[in-house]
Amino acid sequence: MPDKPPCLPDTLVLPEKTLLGCGKILTLLPECARFGHRGILLHGAALTSGRILNDLLDRAPPGLAVLPFRHLGEEPTLTEVTKLIEAAHHHGAEWIAGVGGGSVLDLGKAAAALFHTTHPVSDYHDGRAIEQPGITFLAAPTTAGTGSEATLNSVLTNTETGAKKSIRNIGMMARVVILDPDLIASCPSPVIAAAGMDALTQAIEAFTSRKATWLSDQLALQGVALISAHLESVYRDPKAPQSEALLTGSYLAGVALSFARLGVVHGLAHPLGTLYHVPHGLVCAACLPHALELNRDAFGDKYRILSETVGADLITRIGDLSRNLGVVSPFAGREVREREKTIAETLASGSTQANPKAITRADVEWILDRLFSPA
Ligand SMILES: [Fe+2]
Repeated sequence: MPDKPPCLPDTLVLPEKTLLGCGKILTLLPECARFGHRGILLHGAALTSGRILNDLLDRAPPGLAVLPFRHLGEEPTLTEVTKLIEAAHHHGAEWIAGVGGGSVLDLGKAAAALFHTTHPVSDYHDGRAIEQPGITFLAAPTTAGTGSEATLNSVLTNTETGAKKSIRNIGMMARVVILDPDLIASCPSPVIAAAGMDALTQAIEAFTSRKATWLSDQLALQGVALISAHLESVYRDPKAPQSEALLTGSYLAGVALSFARLGVVHGLAHPLGTLYHVPHGLVCAACLPHALELNRDAFGDKYRILSETVGADLITRIGDLSRNLGVVSPFAGREVREREKTIAETLASGSTQANPKAITRADVEWILDRLFSPA
Protein backbone atom coordinates (compact mmCIF):
# COMPACT_ATOMS: atom_id res chain seq x y z
CA MET A 1 0.00 0.00 0.00
CA PRO A 2 1.57 3.39 -0.96
CA ASP A 3 2.60 5.68 1.94
CA LYS A 4 0.87 8.67 0.41
CA PRO A 5 -2.29 7.90 -1.52
CA PRO A 6 -3.47 10.48 -4.07
CA CYS A 7 -5.82 13.10 -2.67
CA LEU A 8 -8.59 12.44 -5.17
CA PRO A 9 -9.64 9.60 -7.49
CA ASP A 10 -9.26 10.22 -11.23
CA THR A 11 -13.04 10.65 -11.48
CA LEU A 12 -15.10 12.02 -8.62
CA VAL A 13 -18.89 11.91 -8.90
CA LEU A 14 -21.08 12.89 -5.95
CA PRO A 15 -24.79 13.51 -5.35
CA GLU A 16 -25.74 17.06 -6.34
CA LYS A 17 -27.72 17.62 -3.15
CA THR A 18 -27.99 15.68 0.13
CA LEU A 19 -30.69 16.51 2.67
CA LEU A 20 -30.40 15.21 6.23
CA GLY A 21 -32.92 15.25 9.06
CA CYS A 22 -36.27 14.04 10.37
CA GLY A 23 -39.14 14.93 8.05
CA LYS A 24 -36.93 15.70 5.05
CA ILE A 25 -38.57 12.87 3.09
CA LEU A 26 -41.60 15.13 2.67
CA THR A 27 -39.51 17.30 0.33
CA LEU A 28 -38.89 14.36 -2.04
CA LEU A 29 -41.61 15.05 -4.60
CA PRO A 30 -40.97 18.82 -4.67
CA GLU A 31 -37.31 17.92 -5.38
CA CYS A 32 -38.43 15.52 -8.12
CA ALA A 33 -40.47 18.30 -9.74
CA ARG A 34 -37.20 20.13 -10.55
CA PHE A 35 -36.41 17.35 -13.03
CA GLY A 36 -39.73 17.06 -14.82
CA HIS A 37 -43.47 16.73 -14.34
CA ARG A 38 -43.70 12.95 -14.76
CA GLY A 39 -41.93 10.29 -12.79
CA ILE A 40 -41.92 6.99 -10.93
CA LEU A 41 -42.00 6.67 -7.14
CA LEU A 42 -40.33 3.29 -6.61
CA HIS A 43 -40.69 1.80 -3.14
CA GLY A 44 -40.63 -1.41 -1.12
CA ALA A 45 -43.25 -3.05 1.05
CA ALA A 46 -42.25 -1.07 4.16
CA LEU A 47 -43.45 2.20 2.70
CA THR A 48 -47.01 0.97 2.23
CA SER A 49 -47.39 -0.30 5.81
CA GLY A 50 -47.32 3.18 7.35
CA ARG A 51 -48.47 6.65 6.37
CA ILE A 52 -45.36 7.74 4.53
CA LEU A 53 -46.39 6.82 0.97
CA ASN A 54 -49.73 8.60 1.35
CA ASP A 55 -48.03 11.58 3.01
CA LEU A 56 -45.63 11.86 0.09
CA LEU A 57 -48.39 11.67 -2.51
CA ASP A 58 -50.54 14.17 -0.58
CA ARG A 59 -47.67 16.66 -0.78
CA ALA A 60 -47.00 16.23 -4.50
CA PRO A 61 -46.75 19.63 -6.20
CA PRO A 62 -49.73 20.47 -8.46
CA GLY A 63 -49.38 19.00 -11.94
CA LEU A 64 -46.84 16.36 -10.94
CA ALA A 65 -47.80 12.98 -12.44
CA VAL A 66 -46.41 10.34 -10.07
CA LEU A 67 -46.70 6.62 -10.75
CA PRO A 68 -46.07 4.53 -7.59
CA PHE A 69 -44.22 1.29 -8.42
CA ARG A 70 -43.68 -1.35 -5.74
CA HIS A 71 -40.59 -3.58 -5.66
CA LEU A 72 -41.77 -7.09 -4.82
CA GLY A 73 -38.96 -7.82 -2.40
CA GLU A 74 -35.79 -9.92 -2.49
CA GLU A 75 -32.77 -8.85 -4.46
CA PRO A 76 -33.40 -7.10 -7.78
CA THR A 77 -33.26 -9.04 -11.03
CA LEU A 78 -32.70 -8.10 -14.64
CA THR A 79 -36.36 -8.97 -15.31
CA GLU A 80 -37.51 -6.41 -12.75
CA VAL A 81 -35.26 -3.75 -14.25
CA THR A 82 -36.77 -4.43 -17.68
CA LYS A 83 -40.33 -4.21 -16.27
CA LEU A 84 -39.55 -0.94 -14.50
CA ILE A 85 -38.02 0.56 -17.66
CA GLU A 86 -41.15 -0.44 -19.60
CA ALA A 87 -43.41 1.13 -16.96
CA ALA A 88 -41.30 4.29 -16.97
CA HIS A 89 -41.52 4.57 -20.77
CA HIS A 90 -45.28 3.97 -20.70
CA HIS A 91 -45.67 6.71 -18.10
CA GLY A 92 -43.36 9.10 -19.95
CA ALA A 93 -41.13 9.35 -16.89
CA GLU A 94 -38.44 12.01 -16.63
CA TRP A 95 -37.16 10.76 -13.28
CA ILE A 96 -37.25 7.77 -10.94
CA ALA A 97 -37.25 8.30 -7.17
CA GLY A 98 -36.38 5.27 -5.05
CA VAL A 99 -37.47 5.06 -1.40
CA GLY A 100 -36.34 1.79 0.14
CA GLY A 101 -33.47 -0.49 1.06
CA GLY A 102 -30.52 -1.32 -1.14
CA SER A 103 -32.57 -3.57 -3.43
CA VAL A 104 -35.06 -0.81 -4.21
CA LEU A 105 -32.33 1.75 -4.80
CA ASP A 106 -30.27 -0.60 -7.01
CA LEU A 107 -33.37 -1.39 -9.06
CA GLY A 108 -34.24 2.30 -9.48
CA LYS A 109 -30.79 3.51 -10.42
CA ALA A 110 -30.37 0.73 -13.01
CA ALA A 111 -33.72 1.51 -14.65
CA ALA A 112 -32.94 5.24 -14.69
CA ALA A 113 -29.45 4.75 -16.16
CA LEU A 114 -30.63 2.23 -18.79
CA PHE A 115 -33.80 4.15 -19.72
CA HIS A 116 -32.58 5.19 -23.18
CA THR A 117 -30.66 2.03 -24.08
CA THR A 118 -31.78 -0.29 -26.84
CA HIS A 119 -30.12 -3.61 -26.02
CA PRO A 120 -31.36 -6.17 -23.47
CA VAL A 121 -30.47 -5.38 -19.85
CA SER A 122 -28.44 -8.61 -19.76
CA ASP A 123 -26.00 -7.13 -22.29
CA TYR A 124 -25.14 -4.30 -19.89
CA HIS A 125 -24.96 -6.79 -17.00
CA ASP A 126 -22.40 -8.68 -19.09
CA GLY A 127 -20.26 -5.59 -19.57
CA ARG A 128 -21.65 -3.64 -22.54
CA ALA A 129 -21.08 0.10 -22.08
CA ILE A 130 -24.17 2.29 -21.60
CA GLU A 131 -24.32 4.36 -24.79
CA GLN A 132 -26.16 7.45 -23.60
CA PRO A 133 -27.33 9.11 -20.37
CA GLY A 134 -30.60 7.94 -18.85
CA ILE A 135 -33.05 9.89 -16.71
CA THR A 136 -32.63 11.43 -13.27
CA PHE A 137 -32.46 9.21 -10.19
CA LEU A 138 -33.24 10.37 -6.65
CA ALA A 139 -32.73 8.20 -3.56
CA ALA A 140 -33.98 7.97 0.02
CA PRO A 141 -32.71 4.92 1.97
CA THR A 142 -34.97 3.15 4.48
CA THR A 143 -32.09 1.15 5.96
CA ALA A 144 -28.69 2.35 7.19
CA GLY A 145 -26.55 -0.14 5.38
CA THR A 146 -25.92 -0.48 1.70
CA GLY A 147 -24.87 3.10 0.96
CA SER A 148 -26.55 2.54 -2.41
CA GLU A 149 -27.90 6.11 -2.30
CA ALA A 150 -24.33 7.31 -2.90
CA THR A 151 -22.78 4.69 -5.18
CA LEU A 152 -22.25 4.31 -8.91
CA ASN A 153 -23.21 0.68 -9.17
CA SER A 154 -26.32 -1.48 -9.12
CA VAL A 155 -26.06 -5.10 -7.96
CA LEU A 156 -28.42 -7.25 -10.02
CA THR A 157 -29.09 -10.96 -10.48
CA ASN A 158 -29.64 -12.68 -13.81
CA THR A 159 -32.09 -15.39 -12.79
CA GLU A 160 -31.37 -17.40 -15.96
CA THR A 161 -27.65 -17.78 -15.27
CA GLY A 162 -27.61 -17.16 -11.51
CA ALA A 163 -24.96 -14.46 -12.01
CA LYS A 164 -25.09 -11.70 -9.41
CA LYS A 165 -22.89 -8.73 -10.25
CA SER A 166 -22.86 -4.98 -10.72
CA ILE A 167 -23.56 -2.64 -13.56
CA ARG A 168 -21.40 0.39 -12.92
CA ASN A 169 -21.87 3.80 -14.55
CA ILE A 170 -21.48 7.41 -13.45
CA GLY A 171 -25.09 8.00 -14.58
CA MET A 172 -26.23 5.89 -11.63
CA MET A 173 -25.28 8.50 -9.06
CA ALA A 174 -28.40 9.94 -7.41
CA ARG A 175 -28.90 13.64 -8.14
CA VAL A 176 -30.67 14.11 -4.79
CA VAL A 177 -30.26 12.03 -1.64
CA ILE A 178 -32.58 12.30 1.34
CA LEU A 179 -31.34 10.85 4.65
CA ASP A 180 -34.36 10.89 6.95
CA PRO A 181 -34.20 9.00 10.27
CA ASP A 182 -38.02 8.71 10.22
CA LEU A 183 -37.59 6.19 7.39
CA ILE A 184 -35.68 3.71 9.53
CA ALA A 185 -37.79 4.16 12.67
CA SER A 186 -39.93 1.13 11.81
CA CYS A 187 -37.07 -1.03 10.56
CA PRO A 188 -36.94 -4.45 12.33
CA SER A 189 -33.89 -4.87 14.59
CA PRO A 190 -32.44 -7.86 12.68
CA VAL A 191 -32.50 -5.73 9.51
CA ILE A 192 -30.79 -2.85 11.38
CA ALA A 193 -28.10 -5.32 12.51
CA ALA A 194 -27.45 -6.89 9.10
CA ALA A 195 -27.54 -3.57 7.23
CA GLY A 196 -25.26 -1.98 9.82
CA MET A 197 -22.68 -4.75 9.52
CA ASP A 198 -22.73 -4.28 5.74
CA ALA A 199 -22.15 -0.55 6.21
CA LEU A 200 -19.31 -1.15 8.66
CA THR A 201 -17.69 -3.69 6.32
CA GLN A 202 -17.98 -1.23 3.45
CA ALA A 203 -16.40 1.57 5.47
CA ILE A 204 -13.49 -0.67 6.52
CA GLU A 205 -12.96 -2.09 3.03
CA ALA A 206 -13.11 1.36 1.40
CA PHE A 207 -10.61 2.69 3.98
CA THR A 208 -8.15 -0.12 3.30
CA SER A 209 -8.73 -0.56 -0.45
CA ARG A 210 -5.74 -0.30 -2.74
CA LYS A 211 -7.74 2.36 -4.63
CA ALA A 212 -8.14 4.49 -1.49
CA THR A 213 -7.37 8.20 -1.69
CA TRP A 214 -6.94 10.87 0.96
CA LEU A 215 -10.56 11.90 0.44
CA SER A 216 -11.99 8.38 0.67
CA ASP A 217 -9.90 7.79 3.80
CA GLN A 218 -11.52 10.78 5.54
CA LEU A 219 -15.04 9.70 4.62
CA ALA A 220 -14.58 5.99 5.26
CA LEU A 221 -12.88 6.45 8.64
CA GLN A 222 -15.63 8.77 9.83
CA GLY A 223 -18.09 6.15 8.58
CA VAL A 224 -16.35 3.51 10.70
CA ALA A 225 -16.46 5.79 13.74
CA LEU A 226 -20.16 6.65 13.41
CA ILE A 227 -21.34 3.12 12.64
CA SER A 228 -19.25 1.51 15.38
CA ALA A 229 -20.41 4.06 17.95
CA HIS A 230 -24.13 4.06 17.16
CA LEU A 231 -25.19 0.78 15.57
CA GLU A 232 -25.97 -0.98 18.87
CA SER A 233 -28.15 1.90 20.12
CA VAL A 234 -30.23 1.92 16.94
CA TYR A 235 -30.44 -1.89 16.99
CA ARG A 236 -31.99 -1.70 20.46
CA ASP A 237 -34.30 1.16 19.47
CA PRO A 238 -34.68 2.10 15.77
CA LYS A 239 -36.30 5.37 16.92
CA ALA A 240 -33.18 6.35 18.90
CA PRO A 241 -31.72 9.77 18.04
CA GLN A 242 -28.46 8.05 17.06
CA SER A 243 -30.17 6.83 13.88
CA GLU A 244 -29.22 10.10 12.16
CA ALA A 245 -25.53 9.45 12.89
CA LEU A 246 -25.89 5.85 11.70
CA LEU A 247 -27.51 6.96 8.44
CA THR A 248 -24.71 9.49 8.01
CA GLY A 249 -22.05 6.83 8.59
CA SER A 250 -23.65 4.51 6.06
CA TYR A 251 -23.85 7.34 3.51
CA LEU A 252 -20.20 8.31 4.04
CA ALA A 253 -19.17 4.69 3.54
CA GLY A 254 -21.20 4.64 0.31
CA VAL A 255 -19.55 7.81 -1.01
CA ALA A 256 -16.11 6.42 -0.13
CA LEU A 257 -16.65 3.04 -1.75
CA SER A 258 -18.13 4.56 -4.89
CA PHE A 259 -14.62 5.59 -5.89
CA ALA A 260 -12.30 3.67 -3.54
CA ARG A 261 -14.07 0.34 -4.17
CA LEU A 262 -14.08 -2.51 -1.61
CA GLY A 263 -12.21 -5.74 -0.81
CA VAL A 264 -12.36 -9.51 -0.63
CA VAL A 265 -15.39 -9.62 1.70
CA HIS A 266 -17.50 -8.13 -1.05
CA GLY A 267 -15.78 -10.38 -3.59
CA LEU A 268 -17.04 -13.37 -1.60
CA ALA A 269 -20.40 -11.83 -0.72
CA HIS A 270 -21.94 -12.04 -4.16
CA PRO A 271 -21.38 -15.77 -4.86
CA LEU A 272 -22.10 -16.77 -1.25
CA GLY A 273 -25.22 -14.61 -1.04
CA THR A 274 -26.57 -16.11 -4.26
CA LEU A 275 -25.80 -19.73 -3.31
CA TYR A 276 -27.14 -19.62 0.24
CA HIS A 277 -29.88 -16.96 -0.08
CA VAL A 278 -28.84 -15.16 3.09
CA PRO A 279 -28.95 -11.39 3.64
CA HIS A 280 -25.91 -9.59 2.28
CA GLY A 281 -25.11 -7.98 5.64
CA LEU A 282 -24.94 -11.37 7.35
CA VAL A 283 -22.52 -12.64 4.71
CA CYS A 284 -20.35 -9.55 5.29
CA ALA A 285 -20.47 -9.96 9.08
CA ALA A 286 -19.43 -13.62 8.82
CA CYS A 287 -16.58 -13.01 6.36
CA LEU A 288 -15.19 -9.80 7.87
CA PRO A 289 -13.16 -11.20 10.83
CA HIS A 290 -11.43 -13.75 8.57
CA ALA A 291 -10.68 -11.13 5.91
CA LEU A 292 -9.25 -8.79 8.57
CA GLU A 293 -6.95 -11.53 9.81
CA LEU A 294 -5.84 -12.32 6.25
CA ASN A 295 -5.25 -8.65 5.44
CA ARG A 296 -3.79 -7.50 8.74
CA ASP A 297 -0.19 -7.19 7.54
CA ALA A 298 -1.23 -5.58 4.26
CA PHE A 299 -3.21 -2.91 6.16
CA GLY A 300 0.03 -1.50 7.58
CA ASP A 301 -0.68 1.36 9.97
CA LYS A 302 -4.36 1.35 9.01
CA TYR A 303 -5.06 -1.57 11.36
CA ARG A 304 -3.89 0.54 14.30
CA ILE A 305 -5.88 3.55 13.07
CA LEU A 306 -9.03 1.45 12.73
CA SER A 307 -8.53 -0.05 16.19
CA GLU A 308 -8.15 3.42 17.70
CA THR A 309 -11.27 4.54 15.85
CA VAL A 310 -13.45 1.74 17.24
CA GLY A 311 -11.83 1.96 20.69
CA ALA A 312 -10.49 -1.61 20.84
CA ASP A 313 -8.53 -4.14 18.81
CA LEU A 314 -10.44 -4.14 15.51
CA ILE A 315 -11.00 -7.90 15.18
CA THR A 316 -12.05 -8.17 18.85
CA ARG A 317 -14.45 -5.25 18.44
CA ILE A 318 -16.05 -6.77 15.32
CA GLY A 319 -16.61 -10.04 17.19
CA ASP A 320 -18.14 -8.26 20.20
CA LEU A 321 -20.35 -6.11 17.99
CA SER A 322 -21.68 -9.14 16.08
CA ARG A 323 -22.51 -10.92 19.35
CA ASN A 324 -24.23 -7.84 20.77
CA LEU A 325 -26.33 -7.57 17.61
CA GLY A 326 -27.32 -11.24 17.73
CA VAL A 327 -25.63 -11.84 14.38
CA VAL A 328 -25.02 -15.55 13.79
CA SER A 329 -22.89 -16.92 10.95
CA PRO A 330 -25.12 -18.50 8.30
CA PHE A 331 -22.18 -20.71 7.22
CA ALA A 332 -20.59 -22.22 10.33
CA GLY A 333 -20.71 -26.02 10.23
CA ARG A 334 -22.28 -26.17 6.78
CA GLU A 335 -20.97 -27.77 3.62
CA VAL A 336 -19.23 -25.56 1.05
CA ARG A 337 -21.38 -25.66 -2.07
CA GLU A 338 -19.94 -25.08 -5.53
CA ARG A 339 -16.48 -24.41 -4.14
CA GLU A 340 -14.75 -24.00 -7.51
CA LYS A 341 -17.40 -21.59 -8.83
CA THR A 342 -17.26 -19.56 -5.61
CA ILE A 343 -13.47 -19.30 -5.80
CA ALA A 344 -13.52 -18.33 -9.48
CA GLU A 345 -16.19 -15.63 -8.99
CA THR A 346 -14.40 -14.24 -5.93
CA LEU A 347 -11.08 -13.97 -7.77
CA ALA A 348 -12.77 -12.29 -10.78
CA SER A 349 -14.58 -9.70 -8.66
CA GLY A 350 -13.62 -6.03 -8.93
CA SER A 351 -13.94 -5.82 -5.14
CA THR A 352 -11.37 -8.59 -4.67
CA GLN A 353 -9.04 -6.83 -7.06
CA ALA A 354 -9.14 -3.71 -4.86
CA ASN A 355 -8.25 -5.74 -1.74
CA PRO A 356 -5.03 -4.52 -0.09
CA LYS A 357 -3.43 -7.99 -0.13
CA ALA A 358 -3.27 -9.50 -3.62
CA ILE A 359 -5.74 -12.34 -3.24
CA THR A 360 -4.81 -15.82 -4.48
CA ARG A 361 -6.84 -18.97 -4.82
CA ALA A 362 -5.18 -20.23 -1.63
CA ASP A 363 -6.37 -17.10 0.22
CA VAL A 364 -10.00 -17.65 -0.82
CA GLU A 365 -9.74 -21.28 0.26
CA TRP A 366 -8.24 -20.15 3.58
CA ILE A 367 -11.26 -17.90 4.23
CA LEU A 368 -13.79 -20.54 3.08
CA ASP A 369 -12.25 -23.20 5.34
CA ARG A 370 -12.59 -20.93 8.38
CA LEU A 371 -16.00 -19.62 7.38
CA PHE A 372 -17.54 -23.08 7.09
CA SER A 373 -15.81 -24.73 10.04
CA PRO A 374 -18.07 -25.48 13.04
CA ALA A 375 -18.44 -22.49 15.37
FE1 LIG B 1 -22.15 -4.37 0.89
